[in-house]
Amino acid sequence: MTAQPLYFDCDTGIDDSMALAYLLASPEIEIAGIGTVSGNVNSTQAARNTLALTQLAGRATIPVAVGAADPQAGTYGGSVPHIHGHNGIGDITVPDSAQSAVAQDAADMIIELARTHRGKLRLLTTGPLTNVAEALRREPELPSLVQDITIMGGAAQQSGNVTPVAEANIHNDPEAAAEVLAAPWDITLVPLDVTLAHTLEEADRRRLLDSGRPLPVALGEMMDLYYDFYLETFGRRCCAVHDPLAAAIAVGGVVPTLAPSVDVVVDATQGPGRGQTICDLRGQFLNYPPQKGAHCRVVLKAGPDSAAHLVERLLTL
Ligand code: BDR
Ligand code: CA
Repeated sequence: MTAQPLYFDCDTGIDDSMALAYLLASPEIEIAGIGTVSGNVNSTQAARNTLALTQLAGRATIPVAVGAADPQAGTYGGSVPHIHGHNGIGDITVPDSAQSAVAQDAADMIIELARTHRGKLRLLTTGPLTNVAEALRREPELPSLVQDITIMGGAAQQSGNVTPVAEANIHNDPEAAAEVLAAPWDITLVPLDVTLAHTLEEADRRRLLDSGRPLPVALGEMMDLYYDFYLETFGRRCCAVHDPLAAAIAVGGVVPTLAPSVDVVVDATQGPGRGQTICDLRGQFLNYPPQKGAHCRVVLKAGPDSAAHLVERLLTL
């Protein structure tokens, strides 16, 4: 199997860390570079977390670029310590990496990697889309230079998790999301509809802790705080698998079972719909004409047992 080059863009919180670990454990892809963005924490702290975690896995040489500090419009709204901890990784202590972030910013890294791996680079984003939108502005040909993009974000037929209609990654930079979703590339959108339907449980966390392996143990430790946050949502200590599920779908480890290709528009107005991903799912009604040229696959359902797959793979680290 030839590993495909993948660029990963993240706002390294707890589930981004799980996605990162999953990618590190995936033979189907090779992480060509990682860019960070402000979301769960600011982009500098996200890079610090990313570097520390790749070092923990013995993969410190993967280049990490610090990305945008602020969204396309306005300023960064601040971190979410009640969800991801003050440091983004559940307030656990991980030694800082001996490596520093590279000099180029994340948008330039995307462009450079896309040109180097022309037509083959895959993009995966688990944070706000600020860096990708910036890369599109600097290199309008970007969509033709990459193979595809998988985006964790949005809510199709489900309510949002920040406003009644907006999911966090889209809410944190609607202008960027609108540009990225409108660009002519193959998009797989992994929204809350599917990520909230897949959970990791206390037994899964215990398996990571019991592994004795540095990165799985660190994940198990940071998930403690994440489980506290999700107690109110699910009524038990567990967590949704937003970012690792998107990673697994990008890599092919988890297969979508319901994923129509439809037109998706992001509301970037200042009204109550700001940050909504408006997915044209009218095709579910009889006689509505199929959408020609729709290039966004919206994952509504995915295979039954993603938790087992995720944990098995994380335990190989
Ligand atoms: C998304 O928001 C962030 O808090 C998570 O890391 C995930 O990417 C879920 O809405
Ligand atoms: Ca994230």
